[in-house]
Amino acid sequence: MIPQDFIDQLLSRVDIVDVVDRYVPLKKGGQNYMACCPFHKEKSPSFTVSPSKQFYHCFGCGAHGSAIGFVMEYQGIGFVDAVKLLAEGIGMQVPNERVVNPEASRKAREKQVSLEQLMQLANDFYRRELKSGPNAVAYCKGRGLSGEIAARFGLGYAPDGWQNLEAITDNYQDEKLVEAGLVIVAEDSGRRYDRFRDRLMFPIRNQRGAIVGFGGRVLGKGEPKYLNSPETPLFEKGRELYGLYEARQAIRDKNRVLVVEGYMDVVALAQYGVGYAVATLGTATTGEHVRKLLKHADQVYFCFDGDKAGLKAAWRALENSLPQLVDGKSLSFLFLPSEHDPDSYVREFGTDAFEQLLEQESLPLSVYFTRELCREVNLSTPEGKADLIRRAAPLLAQISAPALGFIIKKRLAELAGVEVDEFDMLTGGKPRAERSRSGRRDYKLPAESQRQINTTMVKKLIKWLLMNPGWAGDVQLPDSMALSDELACFAMLAERVQEHGEEPNTAQLIEGLRGTPYEGLIDSVLQQAMQDPDEFADPSEDDRQLFQDGNAKLLKMLHAAQLERLKLKDRHEGLTSEEKALFGQLWREMFSSPN
Ligand code: UTP
Ligand code: MN
Repeated sequence: MIPQDFIDQLLSRVDIVDVVDRYVPLKKGGQNYMACCPFHKEKSPSFTVSPSKQFYHCFGCGAHGSAIGFVMEYQGIGFVDAVKLLAEGIGMQVPNERVVNPEASRKAREKQVSLEQLMQLANDFYRRELKSGPNAVAYCKGRGLSGEIAARFGLGYAPDGWQNLEAITDNYQDEKLVEAGLVIVAEDSGRRYDRFRDRLMFPIRNQRGAIVGFGGRVLGKGEPKYLNSPETPLFEKGRELYGLYEARQAIRDKNRVLVVEGYMDVVALAQYGVGYAVATLGTATTGEHVRKLLKHADQVYFCFDGDKAGLKAAWRALENSLPQLVDGKSLSFLFLPSEHDPDSYVREFGTDAFEQLLEQESLPLSVYFTRELCREVNLSTPEGKADLIRRAAPLLAQISAPALGFIIKKRLAELAGVEVDEFDMLTGGKPRAERSRSGRRDYKLPAESQRQINTTMVKKLIKWLLMNPGWAGDVQLPDSMALSDELACFAMLAERVQEHGEEPNTAQLIEGLRGTPYEGLIDSVLQQAMQDPDEFADPSEDDRQLFQDGNAKLLKMLHAAQLERLKLKDRHEGLTSEEKALFGQLWREMFSSPN
């Protein structure tokens, strides 16, 4: 079995347009690419490939699928072979295939090594250039960087000029330079040139210490201030952290790691003896980042600038951390005075002041979490308290540390003036760990009332969600109901999108359902619904509205069915206290919603 994670990653890295184009030359038409369908005979093109959905579909014969599906169909090979083929093409190694296919894994490994070597050669070159580049040296001096710290972080200088990297290769046309992100091919002329020119270079190392990317800063003013390597087979921004390799020892010694926003912050802190700092790479802190950090140390601190962007970044980091929390480990947030970042702060006030601030002023996640939520509502009114409960519920449900999750919930319940039990009842939820994987408690909707639900409508909602995974946030299904068939499939899709982290594309979503009981349903939904080429165009605001309306209607229908069922049970057997609470809640919702 190839792990789902790998399939998912593979689909986020290959581009279906490239894949199909290798076999069937594509022409751009609007947002999509077109060709005559390779799977049936036709004279005018009805075979369409969508780059945004990473999905193909033929309006003539109904063939459809992801890049993997395409290769399977076209080459007439099985799933595993198709995955292997695609993975090899971009230098990814299929897990479990190591033993089975030593030849492919050797090739992939060789590719990786050669890209790493190239990055190392480039870094050596940049470092030499820094020594002989007076402007860059002056810039470093101006920023207070010592020669020693520059050497420790391998800082370099990419000189001005278009093809300086000719110095590291005897073939500047080598595709590997492009794959490594060092050289750019101009779209129009096909001419090649160095990505980094006249910039101070920060090499980014992975956990093994191999250079996988660069960040390059302009000397002085200019846009962009930092230019980063693109995502390459070596470099994935959502996983790597700048400075982690250099900080390993200090992190271990202190059992603590500090996440900051910038390259310069990491380097300056290290120069001042705060060696346990790392930075995200101009991206939000991901769950994967947090997971990695928690493996290295028990205490993780986030230090963000005190400005608006910093506050936003902190909240994003908090949100992405919730599913990674572990009891016994702590996350904290430090906000610097708005005019400072860690670099400027440590230079102005020194190491002790900075560490004191970190230890004394940073907010534990629980406190920051509660404080932020309360800040947005007016706790002196019942409405405000209700709003607090509403806002907190989905976040609390994500916390993976049971004890901490409970304590935070208790505190929030207190603030809202309700008991924890009542809080649970109102939010329809116990913490994630206590729930089934699908998150739905087993309260059965009788088969006959579920049948009343219009399956055509649900299928339509499924199709819309498949084509626009980003709409999953609009899906609201009753939490305490066992769903079956189309409804269960719809619920599962919405849940998958929400659990996915980064928004998945259509292809990833569909491949995730391969081999599940829903595979056939999805297939028929796509077959049926896509008779009309318009279905493949990017959706309009009206479509979105229709989707939202459909969801509201569905929810109402389900609530009504559930109420009926509860009434019936009440008459015959009586209701448990949990069911009574549910009844009350459904009743209120039915009559508070506008339509
Ligand atoms: P900042 O703009 O806060 O810069 O970007 P800084 O770290 O204080 O840098 P100096 O002190 O002016 O040199 C923070 C981080 O955001 C990413 C970089 O990772 C940077 O370190 N960033 C910023 C980019 O990727 N591109 C940009 O154009 C700007
Ligand atoms: Mn700065």
